[in-house]
Amino acid sequence: MAVRNLAPRPLPCLAHLDRIAEISAVRGRGLAGSLRDGAQNLHWGQTYTASDFGPRFIDNYGWLEVFGTRGHFVNDTIAGGFLILGPDIEYPDHHHVAEEVYIPLTGGTDWRMDGGPWRRRAAGEIIHHASNVSHAMRTGDEPLLAFYLWRGGPLAARSTITGVVEKPEA
Ligand SMILES: [Fe+2]
Repeated sequence: MAVRNLAPRPLPCLAHLDRIAEISAVRGRGLAGSLRDGAQNLHWGQTYTASDFGPRFIDNYGWLEVFGTRGHFVNDTIAGGFLILGPDIEYPDHHHVAEEVYIPLTGGTDWRMDGGPWRRRAAGEIIHHASNVSHAMRTGDEPLLAFYLWRGGPLAARSTITGVVEKPEA
């Protein structure tokens, strides 16, 4: 993949990477540590604004597209990268055309699909969301770091949000 030169764009959520590197599963610990060490030089993004989910969500959320239509490496058919959520954050029900795979590198987060029950997922599990299937995540006492892949739809599309969102003040 060709390199795309992107300016560093750190976000407040990077403060969670110290803890994430401590708690990530053994097989993902080196990766999480590398991400922590290099995070300030990478181009982090946010799809939402405080008007969507409130200021506390925005301060505790961010993603890094490693490869894709916007990321550090050019790829027009598949996007991949990392998502960070701080502790006690709900990313409400949403869906998108692209098919998605998540592999959490930290445990302790509840995930649900298609409006079903919340399920606590361990680090290293493979979580597949088919095209347009609704899904949501809810962290507990610890932050989440998850690897993601997207393919088969517009790779920079904003998700459609269907979940009800409480907007706590900052
Ligand atoms: Fe998704």
